[in-house]
Amino acid sequence: MGRIPEDKIQEIRDRSDIVEVVSGYLPLKRSGANHQGLCPFHQEKTPSFNVNSARQIFHCFGCGVGGNVFSFLMRMDGLSFPDAVRRLGEKVGIEVEEEAISPADMRRREVRERLLQINEAAGTFYQQILLEGEVGALGRRYLRQRGYESETVRAFQLGFAPEGWEALAKHLTEKKFSREEIQQAGLVRPGKQGRGDYDLFRQRLLFPIHDLQGRMVAFGGRVLDDSLPKYINSPESDVYHKGQTLYGLYQARDAMRHHGEALVVEGYFDVLALHRAGFAAAVATCGTALTADHARLLKRYADKILLVFDEDAAGRQATFRAMDALLPVGLAVNVVALPAGEDPDSLLKSRGEEGFRSCLDAARPVLEVFIEDQLRINGQSIEGLARAAEQVLERIRRLPGDLERNLYLKRLATLTNLDIELLQSKMRSGRVAPSVVRRPATQSLQARQPSAVAGQTQKYLLRLMLVDDQQRCRVREEGTEGLFLDELFRGLAEYLLGREDEDGRLPEDLVDASLDEAQQSLLASLVFQEDPGWADNPEKIFTDCRRAVCNFVLKQRLGEIRQLEEEARSNNDEVALMQYLRERTEINQKIKKKL
Ligand code: UTP
Ligand code: MN
Repeated sequence: MGRIPEDKIQEIRDRSDIVEVVSGYLPLKRSGANHQGLCPFHQEKTPSFNVNSARQIFHCFGCGVGGNVFSFLMRMDGLSFPDAVRRLGEKVGIEVEEEAISPADMRRREVRERLLQINEAAGTFYQQILLEGEVGALGRRYLRQRGYESETVRAFQLGFAPEGWEALAKHLTEKKFSREEIQQAGLVRPGKQGRGDYDLFRQRLLFPIHDLQGRMVAFGGRVLDDSLPKYINSPESDVYHKGQTLYGLYQARDAMRHHGEALVVEGYFDVLALHRAGFAAAVATCGTALTADHARLLKRYADKILLVFDEDAAGRQATFRAMDALLPVGLAVNVVALPAGEDPDSLLKSRGEEGFRSCLDAARPVLEVFIEDQLRINGQSIEGLARAAEQVLERIRRLPGDLERNLYLKRLATLTNLDIELLQSKMRSGRVAPSVVRRPATQSLQARQPSAVAGQTQKYLLRLMLVDDQQRCRVREEGTEGLFLDELFRGLAEYLLGREDEDGRLPEDLVDASLDEAQQSLLASLVFQEDPGWADNPEKIFTDCRRAVCNFVLKQRLGEIRQLEEEARSNNDEVALMQYLRERTEINQKIKKKL
C-alpha cells in the first residue's frame, strides 16, 4: 500500500471536525470549551470523555486514552492509519490517491479486492437461501431446532449452501468472476478429468468469517447431521489468515471494549449461543490454536481474557497454549471451567444464563490452574516438584507485572516447598528473550514510588511547555536531557519543540501521526488539564520542576551509593569507602543548597 502524502493528511484534518466525527458515534454535550460524553472505550455512567474542538483532540479522564481524529477512528473502528485517513477523506470529499505504488503492490491489491468481492457475493448468495430460499428450509429447520431465530442469522449473516455440486460455482460465474479467481478464494475445487469445478460447501450451514471492517473473508460450514467432517473451512488466502482472525470479533468488539473483557471459546455455535444470551464479548479461534497475533488483537479491546475451552485433554492443552500467547502481551487471563462434556452452547441450553454466569463467577487465574496441573502431572517426588517448578517459572517469567510475578513466586514456593530466594534467582537466570527480561521484583518496586513523583514533575514541565512559549524556549536552551528522565516524556518534549512555527508558537492542532499511542494519550490528557492559577508564575514552576528532577536523580544516586558502601565494607575496601563517603557528602550538600 502506498504512502499517503503528508499534505493530503493535513488537508483532510483541516477539512474535518473532530466534534462532528465523534458525534457520529456517541452523543456529545457542550461543557465549557469542551464537549463531553460517555467514553466509548470503557464502561462508565458519568461522562469523562472530552473533545476539544479548538485543539481537535479527544481525551478520556476515566481510561486515559486520547488523540486526534484519526486515532479516534482507528480505535473506534479498528482501522489502520491509512484507512482512517481514507475513510475521513471520503466523508469530507477529498480523494486520497497515493504516492507511487509498485506494479506488484497494485496487482496484490487488485487480487485482494477481487477476493473480498467473491466472498461477499458468495455470502449474500448463501444468506439469501437461508433466509428465504426453498432449499434453505433444511437449514432453517436445523437452526430452529437448536433454538436460533432470524435475529442471529442476521447478526452473523449466516447462510446455507444447497445440495448439488455447482450452485455457487454457477452463481459466481454469472456474476462474471473468473474460474481462477473463484478457485483462489477456495470456494470451489477444481474438477478432475475434464469435469467442471465443484462447490466446497454442499448442504451445510455457513458461518461467514468477517474482518474488522465487517467484510466476509472466509466461511466455516457445518453439516446438518452426524456425518464427517463436522466442519469444513475456507482455506487461507490473501484476505484470510487463520492466525490473525477471530470468529465473531467484528460483532463482539463493542461489548469487549465496554466491559474490558473478552470470552474466548472453541466453536462457532458457542459464539452464537453466548451472543444470544447477552454475553456479546465472545470470539472463537477458527479451528486453530491462539496465536500471538490473536493476543495483540484482543489487547486492543480488552484487558482481561476469559478462556472457555472443553474440559478434556485437548481443551486443557488449548488453554495453556492460549496462556502462553496471552500473558506476555499483558492480558489478565482467567479460566472458566464448565461441567465435563459441556460447551457454552450446550450449557446455556441446559442451565440457562444463570448457569453460565455462575461458571464465570468461579473463573480462576490461568497460572493458578497451570501450577496445579503441573504438580499433578509431575507428581510429588523431588524430581517431579523440580520439573513442575521449572515449567511454572518459565511462565511466571513472562508476566509483565512485577507485583504479579512476585505473588506467583510466593505461591509456587508454598506449593513446592522450595525456597523463594532460590526460585527468584532461578527465574532471573533462566533463558528469556531480551524484551521480556525485567528487573527482579524487589528492586523495581523500590524504584516505583519516587519515579512516580518525578513523573508528575515531568508532566508539569510538559504542561508548562504547552501554555508558555517562553518557558518552552528555556527547555530548548537547557536541553531536554537534563529535564526529562523518561523516554516517553522526553520524546514528547522534543516533539513539541519540533512543532513550533517560525515565531516560536505551537500550532492549534497538536497531535500528529508521528506520535505513538501512549504519547497521543499523554499529550491529550495534558491539554485537557485546566487550572486557572497555573501559569501565574511560570518561571518559578520551571525552576521548581528542574530542581525536583535534579533532586530525584541525586537521591537515586544516594541509594546506589548506600549499596556500594555496604559492598565495599564487606570487602574491607577502605579506598572505595572514602570515595563513596565524599560523593555522599557532596550530594547531600547539593540537595540542601537547592541548587
Ligand atoms: P466442536 O466439535 O466442539 O463443535 O468444534 P461445536 O462448535 O461445538 O459445534 P456443534 O455445537 O457440535 O455444532 C469446535 C470448533 O472447532 C472447529 C470449528 O471451528 C468448531 O466450531 N472444527 C471442529 C473444525 O474446524 N472442523 C471440524 O471438523 C470440527
Ligand atoms: Mn457445541
